[in-house]
Amino acid sequence: MLKLDFHPAGRHFLQIPGPSPVPDRILRAMSYPTIDHRGPEFGELGLKVLDGIKKIFKTQHPVVIYPASGTGAWEAVLSNTLSPGDHVLMYETGHFATLWKKMAESLGLTPGFLGLPGIEGWRRGVQPHMVEERLRADTQQSIKAVCVVHNETSTGVTSDIAAVRRAIDAAGHPALLLVDTISGLACADYRHDEWGVDVTVRLAERLDAAAGHQLQRDLAEGPRCRHKHAKLPRSFWDWSEIVEMNKTGYWPYTPNTNLL
Ligand SMILES: Cc1ncc(COP(=O)(O)O)c(C=O)c1O
Repeated sequence: MLKLDFHPAGRHFLQIPGPSPVPDRILRAMSYPTIDHRGPEFGELGLKVLDGIKKIFKTQHPVVIYPASGTGAWEAVLSNTLSPGDHVLMYETGHFATLWKKMAESLGLTPGFLGLPGIEGWRRGVQPHMVEERLRADTQQSIKAVCVVHNETSTGVTSDIAAVRRAIDAAGHPALLLVDTISGLACADYRHDEWGVDVTVRLAERLDAAAGHQLQRDLAEGPRCRHKHAKLPRSFWDWSEIVEMNKTGYWPYTPNTNLL
């Protein structure tokens, strides 16, 4: 018989890469009665959450919170910044980098996949000098974004994001730096602004501050965002209306009230 409120061998402790165990005080907060997401209390809550979450991303820029999974946040970042056929440079660190590349293909982008041969790529993470070489060779500057996974959950290898930024700068290339730190930020050191990341993707259920049965993802928007010129079709993921409404603490659609 299915029993979700009981664990036979003592206190339940979920030992998988993510989602992570949710502290009791958070579970209790999530069980408060659901408030009206168009009422005055909600606006106050929204502003508090949207301001507080910036500290976690170490950013001054807006953080967009979607009620979606990490896969949704991947789609959000690509569709908000890129156009059909755009070349993107992705780096093969393991399973999740590979899934992100597959998504780029299915959205009509043209991903290049860089990586060390064989299992070495999975052991050593992103090699910034390879990124720099590839960008230097792109004299037409057709590559519009570099996409890397900060902490590759499938291998446990963490890559040096600041070094990837330096590599892009050293090549004098205007490509955006888009980072999946879905299992990284708030566990490993991560600094969106200081490291010059353009868009960071994080998954709230892997922050113990916001985990649970509803799915919610965060996405920080960088200062060089090409959003206005990005032509990939998007509706739900379009962050312009969300950022606008978030200024008053509300969302254009029904948010994850209890999770927030
Ligand atoms: C690094 C990384 N990126 C993306 C994803 C995809 O997230 P989701 O399964 O929530 O869609 C995961 C999921 O484990 C992940 O670990």
